[in-house]
Amino acid sequence: MKTLKRIGILTGGGDCPGLNAVIRAVAKATMNGGGEVVGIEDGYLGLIENRLRVLTNQDVSGILTAGGTILGSCNKANPAKYAMPDGDGKWVLRDVRDQVVRHFNAAGLDAMVVIGGDGTMTGAADLIARGLNIVGVPKTIDNDLWATEITFGHDTAVNTASDALDKVHTTASSHHRVMVVELMGRYAGWIALHAGLASGADVILIPEIPFDLDKVAAKCLYRRQVGKGFTIIAVGEGAVPAGGKQFVSHIDETSPDPIRLGGVGKFVSDELEKRTGLESRAIVLGHIQRGGTPTPHDRILATEFGYQAFKLLSAGQFGRMVVQQQGRIDSVPITEVAGKVRTVPIDDILIQVARAIGTSFGDVEP
Ligand code: F6P
Repeated sequence: MKTLKRIGILTGGGDCPGLNAVIRAVAKATMNGGGEVVGIEDGYLGLIENRLRVLTNQDVSGILTAGGTILGSCNKANPAKYAMPDGDGKWVLRDVRDQVVRHFNAAGLDAMVVIGGDGTMTGAADLIARGLNIVGVPKTIDNDLWATEITFGHDTAVNTASDALDKVHTTASSHHRVMVVELMGRYAGWIALHAGLASGADVILIPEIPFDLDKVAAKCLYRRQVGKGFTIIAVGEGAVPAGGKQFVSHIDETSPDPIRLGGVGKFVSDELEKRTGLESRAIVLGHIQRGGTPTPHDRILATEFGYQAFKLLSAGQFGRMVVQQQGRIDSVPITEVAGKVRTVPIDDILIQVARAIGTSFGDVEP
């Protein structure tokens, strides 16, 4: 074990509950070992713009239960493809990796911990190729990061999403309605699957299983026929009608990953009302899923991931990301993770469980 004198730390991508718990764990373990921690503001943007500050004990104390990130985050600043105005009202992507390496070296950093999702790990892989010592910690409410079976933040998001699904039950039941709740998750259906199962949603629509609206409508009508006048539907934002396309809410030209999903919930609700004659409403839960205090599960996982990152740094094992595999904490090369998405396998045990108890995925007759 060697003591690294100066460690940089940043949080990249969309914020999620548990980021502060990781910062706290890395910083406390490093400081207790005699090292210094430098906070990089707003993800890679802070390295591009040279916004760094030494973190004190006080900075990282009392933040375990706080959502968000004390460092700020940014889901647009990939150093290899950084969007800059070209002067003609358009955005062009520039490679600013040399600038990042310069600022990293000027700050006297021995190594850096990057806490983020796929975009952050892809950015890290590019910087590792330029010789920077980096260790990754996986975060995202979407739970879609390659090589790890869980990311912190997901449990809290699932709690929030199931709370919403539980709460719409009363209106659905009192007004005999179909209630569609659109959940986040991008191209993976983990949030919709887990929250849908936790709340007993009657229909769960996820990107991995294209849905047939006639089959979803048949499920709503079948429920009415057997005395259940309402239907609760959990739909992941990336869910697609069979033969159709994903619903895009807007394109962010300043982002290297410009597509923002959204709109499938309203589409499903409107179509079901037309096809069944049942009154339907759609709710978009949105960024509420990224907020709030992390659950104890996420606080523990984030703290353990932070400590493991510290251990990798101390052992000089750079270029690796902390993961959990089959319940055990381990690590894999960051290059193995970059650019990949971990979607729900269509034979996932929870899909089998849900089907067995009568939950529809919109692909078979009720
Ligand atoms: O990756 C986290 C996430 O919240 C996704 O679930 C969602 O699609 C996306 O980020 C939203 O991004 P933004 O905060 O840019 O709207």
